[in-house]
Amino acid sequence: MNEKVNAMWADGRDVLHLGFGESRFPVHPALSSIFQENASHRSYLPSLGIPELRNTIAQYYSEKLGINLMDKQIIVGVGSKSLLYAMIQSIEGDLLLPKPSWVSYSSIARLTGKKVHRFSLDDENSYSINIQSLDKAYQNFISDGGNPTMLVLNSPSNPVGNVSSEPDIKSVADWARDKNIFILSDEIYSLVTHDGFTHHSTAKYYPEKTIIFGGLSKHLSLGGWRFGMAILPNNEIGESLIKSFQSISGSIWSCVPGPIQYTAILAYSGNQDIDNYIQMCTHIHELRTNYVHRKLKEIGLNSPSPSGGFYLYPSFKKWENKLEEMNIFSCQDLSEYLLDDFGIATLPGSVFGSDPDNFCLRLSTSFLDMETDEQAQNIVNAYKNDIDQFIENHHPRTELFLEKMSHFMALLNE
Ligand SMILES: Cc1ncc(COP(=O)(O)O)c(C=O)c1O
Repeated sequence: MNEKVNAMWADGRDVLHLGFGESRFPVHPALSSIFQENASHRSYLPSLGIPELRNTIAQYYSEKLGINLMDKQIIVGVGSKSLLYAMIQSIEGDLLLPKPSWVSYSSIARLTGKKVHRFSLDDENSYSINIQSLDKAYQNFISDGGNPTMLVLNSPSNPVGNVSSEPDIKSVADWARDKNIFILSDEIYSLVTHDGFTHHSTAKYYPEKTIIFGGLSKHLSLGGWRFGMAILPNNEIGESLIKSFQSISGSIWSCVPGPIQYTAILAYSGNQDIDNYIQMCTHIHELRTNYVHRKLKEIGLNSPSPSGGFYLYPSFKKWENKLEEMNIFSCQDLSEYLLDDFGIATLPGSVFGSDPDNFCLRLSTSFLDMETDEQAQNIVNAYKNDIDQFIENHHPRTELFLEKMSHFMALLNE
């Protein structure tokens, strides 16, 4: 979708891009200068990460998650995708995936020759985890000849934009322990939780077989720097997975580039200014996402209330008959229609595993009015200097999107 939008922009078409989940804030100046200072680190480094970095990350997450982590449990990779790939490749067996869940889990499963079986999140209940549905999917997977050994969780979630509650996290941890399966806990948005919501990890309740994935792409907007990290269990299982990771990373990418590893030490150091910056960016995501959520609700389009990240996941199922009259039979058709006729880019729910006839779309609020680096800086300045009128005075593209959606909704309600 992102490439399609870029091509349309290059052709001079105006597209409102809600299809790309990139956090767009400027690089924090201290990270930018330490990165430049470390440009001379040109040698290959340990593929697990330099010791000082592993130590810093262990301390950082021990504090954030309230668990005691050792340096040897930490490994770093070229974005969290590389770590997810290496772990899925290393663990024998197949994957249970939430429906809906982020696109890359299923594509990594395909690349590594693993089978996938999905369990439905509870769409009546803001897409929370439903243990009955998980258990049923697990049993069916086994009956279909699958060997489910891994369960992927993702909170805060892409595409839903919600945070799993502590009771849900505890029950899924108990369930996984009972089945003796790994939890691959993708916590890349853990520092992008909205006010009043707390991130919980199954690593607290099921440390034996939870692997946490994270990185700098979301809370520090450093997607293109490709820095990811994983936290493995502090036991023999973790040690053997680290060995397997070493042979995969050693054969494919060798190590995370030197300047990035040295910069990541600062990013995870607990530096007050950087932590304040993360909180500010998270609050801006929250304000923008809540605003779009509220305005869409006012024109009749509901989606689960956002509690983390920067996504909304509305369904247009209610208008199924009208959509069919308009030759729109699936969420893909709907996404294409909005792009072609309204210049609005979204992602169809089917790419996240949702049924096409549920007419779900994922809207990312991270791009509008932050399309260029200059606009992104303007948004930060506006937040600091004009907080009372922050949305109203500084979000013309967001307003244009809402205006166009209002026309589309009027069409649906005709
Ligand atoms: C749920 C989820 N996990 C992982 C990633 C990728 O992270 P990275 O840039 O660390 O590879 C993304 C990025 O969109 C994501 O949404």
